[in-house]
Parts: sequence; C-alpha cells; structure tokens
Amino acid sequence: MKAAGGSRTAVLVCQGRAVADGLTATGRFADPLAAHLLRGEERRTVEQVRAGKPPASLPDRIDYESVRACATIIVPRVIAIDDALRDHPSPQVVLLGAGLDDRAWRMPELAGSVVFEVDHPASQRDKRERLVGLGQPWVTGPGEITRPAGPAGPAEPVRFVPVDFARDRLGSALAAAGHRADAPTTWIWEGVVPYLTRAEVERTMAVVAGLSAPDSRLIINYQARQVRIAIGQWIARMMHTLARRSSMWVNEPWRSYWTAATMCELLGRHGFTVRRDEDLLAIAERLDTPTSRRNSLRSGRVVVADRPQ
Ligand SMILES: C[S@@+](CC[C@H](N)C(=O)[O-])C[C@H]1O[C@@H](n2cnc3c(N)ncnc32)[C@H](O)[C@@H]1O
Repeated sequence: MKAAGGSRTAVLVCQGRAVADGLTATGRFADPLAAHLLRGEERRTVEQVRAGKPPASLPDRIDYESVRACATIIVPRVIAIDDALRDHPSPQVVLLGAGLDDRAWRMPELAGSVVFEVDHPASQRDKRERLVGLGQPWVTGPGEITRPAGPAGPAEPVRFVPVDFARDRLGSALAAAGHRADAPTTWIWEGVVPYLTRAEVERTMAVVAGLSAPDSRLIINYQARQVRIAIGQWIARMMHTLARRSSMWVNEPWRSYWTAATMCELLGRHGFTVRRDEDLLAIAERLDTPTSRRNSLRSGRVVVADRPQ
C-alpha cells in the first residue's frame, strides 16, 4: 500500500457500514459509530446513498456508486466475522489491518478482551486523528483511546500497533504492545489480504501462527479471483481517469487471490483447522440480505480456523 494520508479503502468500507446501519439486516447488523468516524465529504456521500439521491456530477456519482456497492458487500462480511468472534470469546483480539473498524467500541462482547489494532502507520495515524476529534467518551486522556462505558463497564484502552506488513516486524511490535503468546488470541484479518502479495501473506501468517496459543482463532476475509471483478476494477479506474479523480485502486491495488483450497492448505501448514469457509453470496442468501452484487459477493470469502486446544 502506498498511502501517505491513510487508506482510502478503509474509508470506503466504513462508508459502506454507515450506509447499511439501520437500513439493512436490522436486528442482525448495526453500526451507528461508523458515521462518526467519517469526515464531511465522506459523510455527505453516505447521506446521499441512504437517501437514494445520486449526485449529478460524474466524480461525485463515482463515489456514490462505489459506496452503494460497498454497502451490499460489507453487511454479510461483518455479520459473519462478528458471529465468529462472539461464539469464541478470547482474552485477546487482534485486528490486522484494522482501518476504521469500530468493533472495539461497537461490540460489548469485546469488553472483556484486550484489543490490539494493527495497521499501516499512515492509516493508523489517520484513524487516531479521527478518534481524537470525537472527544469524550472515546478518548480518556492524552494518547489514550478507550471504549465508551457499555453494559460490561469501561474497558481497557485499545492498543495501537503501527505495522507495515510489507516491511515491519509484526511479532516484536505486538510483544512491545503487551500481546501474550501464551494466551489465546482471536485474530481478524478483514479486507486486507488482497492488498498484500502472497509472500507478505505467508510471512504474516507465519508470525500469527507463532503467536497463537492453543484455542486461538483466525478469521480471514480474502478474495477469490474472478475475471469479471478485474474488468470491473479496470472500468472503475477508467471512470476515475475520465472524471480526473485519483482512484483508490492505484495506491491500493489487489495483489493476491486465494481459492478455498489454497487458503485451507496455507492454514493447515500453520497449524490451523478450518471450521468453515463460505463466500459472501452464500452468507447473504442465508441471512436474507441484498444480493444485487452477485459477482463481488461470490468472490469475497470468510474463513474461520482454529488452533486446537
Ligand atoms: C479495505 S481496508 C480494511 C479495513 C478494516 N479491516 C475493515 O474491514 O474495515 C484495508 C486495510 O488494510 C491496511 N493495509 C493495506 N496494506 C497494508 C500493509 N502493507 N501493512 C499494514 N496494513 C495494510 C490498510 O491500512 C487498511 O486499513
């Protein structure tokens, strides 16, 4: 990822969650915090999509359509990951490539866990600025960012761990932040694997495996290759060029694709047993959430794998 100001794809998925909040899968999906993490223009696009009012100008229309599509894809992905997190409580939760994920604040089930957010330094800096801008009760003191008091009472501050998976040492950064390799961890790697090369994925997986005590869980959202998706991204890039806008896919291109078989092999080699691996279309159909973006839904997958006790 080449991004001085933070990840634009992290903003896009946050916009998708903000669009879906209260409109899609009510009772199964809610993310009232997502809109708070967005800045003026980003939130304006969310409001347009929620109101179903497409803007007239081409550049704004491109943003509108990207956010609208993302809202459909994000709902089954988030529900599947939240469910996998809830049915396997863990003393430590590590979000790998956390972006503007707000689970640490959103999910009361995490109140008993120490939450580590690992992300590219530029993206993490951007998120921290957004959080600090929100003020109380998100921020308790200088540099301290905690969950608002929920049903389980105030939780420990989230621990921020800036790491570029392509360059930095994940293991030592997590250890310095207080991660314990002798206690179980639930790892969430959502929407990040496509942005890494296969070698970076393999290297990160080896570190994760080395830090995973028995009873740890690894939840990964990854992409299977689909020609139609590649064509769609190429068209999106062309549209951006026509609209004289920089495309997020230039700084954050997709670099690796996996099949269920290659992902299962990778996990098995690192001592994880796959519990389930489904595409987002199957999850959306089961949950009865919108399935209008069938190709995109079919190519996104969520795998849940455990390290035996
Ligand atoms: C699409 S966002 C997903 C964010 C979050 N996991 C979610 O689903 O809301 C991609 C994330 O991957 C992170 N990322 C991409 N390449 C990275 C790298 N080389 N090292 C660390 N993080 C990276 C970005 O900073 C960004 O936060």
